[in-house]
Amino acid sequence: MLLLLSIFCLTHNIASSVTDTLTTTIFIKDGETIISSGGSFELGFFSTSKSTNRYVGIWYKKISIQTVVWVANREVPLLNTYGVLEVIKPGLLVLRNDTKNIIWTSNSSMPVQNPVAQLLDTGNLVVKDANGTFLWQSFDYPTDTFLPGMKLGRNFVTGLEVYISAWKSYEDPAPGEYTYHCDPTGYPQNFVKKGAVLQFRTGPWNGLGFSGAPGLRKNPIFSYEVVFNAKEVYYSYKLLGSTITRFTLSPNGVGQRWTWDNQTRSWIIYLSAPNDNCDSYGLCGAYGSCDTGNSEICGCLDKFSPKDPDKWANRDWSNGCIRKVPLDCQNGDGFLKYSGFKLPDTHNSSYSKNMSLEECRRVCLNTCSCTAYSSLDISNGGSGCLLWYGDLIDMKVISGAGQDIYIRMASSELGSDGKKRVLIMSLSLSLGMLLLGFSLILVLRRRKKAFPKLRKDGIPGDILDEVHIDHKKDLELPIFELSIIIEATNNFSINNKLGQGGFGPVYKGVLREGQEVAVKRLSENSMQGLDEFKTEVICIAKLQHRNLVKLLGCCIEGIEKILIYEYMPNKSLDFFIFDRSRSGLLDWPKRLHIIQGIARGILYLHQDSRLRIIHRDLKASNILLDADMNPKISDFGTAKSFGGNETEANTCRIVGTRGYMSPEYAGEGLFSVKSDVFSFGVLVLEILSGKRNTVFFYQGHNLNLLGHAWNLYKDGRELELVDSRIVNSWHSLELLRSIHVGLLCVQQCPEDRPDVSSVVFMLGNEVLLPEAKQPGFFMERTIVNAEMSITLLEAR
Ligand SMILES: *[C@@H]1O[C@H](CO)[C@@H](O)[C@H](O)[C@H]1NC(C)=O
Ligand SMILES: *[C@@H]1O[C@H](CO)[C@@H](O)[C@H](O)[C@H]1NC(C)=O
Ligand SMILES: *[C@@H]1O[C@H](CO)[C@@H](O)[C@H](O)[C@H]1NC(C)=O
Ligand SMILES: *[C@@H]1O[C@H](CO)[C@@H](O)[C@H](O)[C@H]1NC(C)=O
Ligand SMILES: *[C@@H]1O[C@H](CO)[C@@H](O)[C@H](O)[C@H]1NC(C)=O
Ligand SMILES: *[C@@H]1O[C@H](CO)[C@@H](O)[C@H](O)[C@H]1NC(C)=O
Repeated sequence: MLLLLSIFCLTHNIASSVTDTLTTTIFIKDGETIISSGGSFELGFFSTSKSTNRYVGIWYKKISIQTVVWVANREVPLLNTYGVLEVIKPGLLVLRNDTKNIIWTSNSSMPVQNPVAQLLDTGNLVVKDANGTFLWQSFDYPTDTFLPGMKLGRNFVTGLEVYISAWKSYEDPAPGEYTYHCDPTGYPQNFVKKGAVLQFRTGPWNGLGFSGAPGLRKNPIFSYEVVFNAKEVYYSYKLLGSTITRFTLSPNGVGQRWTWDNQTRSWIIYLSAPNDNCDSYGLCGAYGSCDTGNSEICGCLDKFSPKDPDKWANRDWSNGCIRKVPLDCQNGDGFLKYSGFKLPDTHNSSYSKNMSLEECRRVCLNTCSCTAYSSLDISNGGSGCLLWYGDLIDMKVISGAGQDIYIRMASSELGSDGKKRVLIMSLSLSLGMLLLGFSLILVLRRRKKAFPKLRKDGIPGDILDEVHIDHKKDLELPIFELSIIIEATNNFSINNKLGQGGFGPVYKGVLREGQEVAVKRLSENSMQGLDEFKTEVICIAKLQHRNLVKLLGCCIEGIEKILIYEYMPNKSLDFFIFDRSRSGLLDWPKRLHIIQGIARGILYLHQDSRLRIIHRDLKASNILLDADMNPKISDFGTAKSFGGNETEANTCRIVGTRGYMSPEYAGEGLFSVKSDVFSFGVLVLEILSGKRNTVFFYQGHNLNLLGHAWNLYKDGRELELVDSRIVNSWHSLELLRSIHVGLLCVQQCPEDRPDVSSVVFMLGNEVLLPEAKQPGFFMERTIVNAEMSITLLEAR
């Protein structure tokens, strides 16, 4: 007995000193951990925030926020803190509860002499024999986190499939409905599935990345690869630098790429997928083409028409499209090139790595069931051959980064295309003519707007439903009585008025307990129904980020619709930067901090929630400052919220502020995340220069601040733009970078503008930035035009 006790004490001691290995004599109890040799990961017992259930898991050791990357007993929590994790013969890692019952175990069929379990510095927990014989690893059974070095896919020798499986909820690590797979059928592509139903497809691997996920390309931080051969098919990624990064699948099926920001000590989401409505698998049916740039996002590919025109007109696109002219394989078909697409589902396809495109064409032509072909690998200018059989499904227009595909056509369909090309070529002969054409199109489009269609969201019903249910479940927003608001604001006294927001006046209020609040009274004519308002409020209440103004509650009584926000003592950004004396209080580090904070706030609105919020009215007066000069975006409540899948829409009512509106929004009412990026760019240049874009006047030329900044940038004299009160602060590299980023954000073409995640990254890292192209609205005159078009739109 004594002997046993002393062994117990001994082993206990060894385990709690730093080790990365468990053996048959060294085990850990709840409260003890092991740490990987490089100090990156830690293995031990944990609970989620609202539960007392105990789980064995692995988390980052170097990160202050506990971030669990793997869980052992997902489905069988320990109910108390008496769990023990140990290695037993003949080679298993087991978790026992306080009655010594095994409630979870690793899996291995091979018996070994001397089993050990070691936590590697990659986050992989490996069970092996002390002599090195491998038995089991946690990387083969991932939970919701895909770590660098994991191999997602299928091993044809062992039959093992490694896939990511989301948690049931943020509180419950048990397997939820969503999974993420690398599917080797036909040709490798990754899927998010809900149960057995496909939700999202990355598109086939094209050597650089996945066809439909241009964000997942090799870059200075990562390299991605897909390995496929007779033995295995897997997808994997490596970190090239020291950034801490992970990929997760959230409980509601959103894949997210996170990077740890060591400055702010928080995780930032750089990418999420599905990302827009067109990412909904097969939304437009066979031969449909999904384009978020169109108000009707589903269209048929050229030479195809809706199979069921009535349903199609009612936005039921599931039946897809059919050929206008049927194929005639015996008498010779041909191929038509379609450019700029996410390639269709490769479930029914075959490939050859070293066939040329011409050979590929010949093979496809000679196989009547072959419907299309493309290059397999575009990393080296195009090589290999990918052949499709059967209908082409889940194609999406990807502007800028799409691929070419050659689709089989009846020979009679081939001629007209040739003519069209000639026409386009002759048009592009003269740049002037092209510009003329462009302005004509603008005018025509504006005319068309005079007869607006009622906007129906392209959001599939189930997404909306889901959002709806979510809200009901956890609405914890206080409702204020009108009498309390009236008392707090002195009956909306003019003396309490803080300002006039886009949707109504804002008052300062003091609640009985002494808490200061800002009260926004929505104007009656805000055109918003009660249900819509409620939904909106519930959405806003869920948005919590340190760079967004916090909603404290709301009040709905009679015709009154009121929002109660936290009060910001330092007013708004315009109060400082445009004021000669006060702007001296904001040196460059403070301003950079503000710029980065705004960017993070926007990133949160655009990407972090299943609901995508486009602000539409970002401007200096909507950036409030707290007591520590931290920026907080306000007025996002009345912005446009989307199902997480939609990125762009048309609006009948233009809200926004002159000088901050992007050309496509002011001119055509077309807004997207990129219109917010434009406004952000304007803000950056204003913060740097201390001048308003709209009232900018410089030595008689008729450029606005954007035009002026661009001219200086072209001449390499950007620093002349910078507010003289901050230019001396030895930060010229940061200043140059920020001006450059600002100019990238205000480029004329929405596609050229970076998304906010890239903006956050570019502001914080020394990366090579692309050349900025000409900004939109760079002359005072163009703005006047835009205003005219706004009145025109509102007048109808
Ligand atoms: C330990 O696990 C066994 C088997 O699952 C179970 O029957 C027993 O109730 C558990 N004991 C406690 C205290 O949870
Ligand atoms: C353990 O491995 C065997 C084959 O080696 C397999 O049939 C079984 O499903 C595995 N169990 C678990 C829980 O993975
Ligand atoms: C390690 O030991 C196992 C048996 O415990 C044996 O099967 C295996 O061949 C050994 N491997 C090496 C590399 O010695
Ligand atoms: C984060 O910053 C701290 C100092 O603030 C430093 O000690 C640590 O090594 C950094 N971690 C990473 C991962 O860069
Ligand atoms: C693949 O072919 C089968 C059989 O023709 C068909 O049922 C299935 O829908 C096809 N899958 C795709 C993704 O085209
Ligand atoms: C493909 O490449 C391999 C090795 O490079 C070569 O052995 C094989 O003959 C090639 N196949 C064809 C069809 O060109």
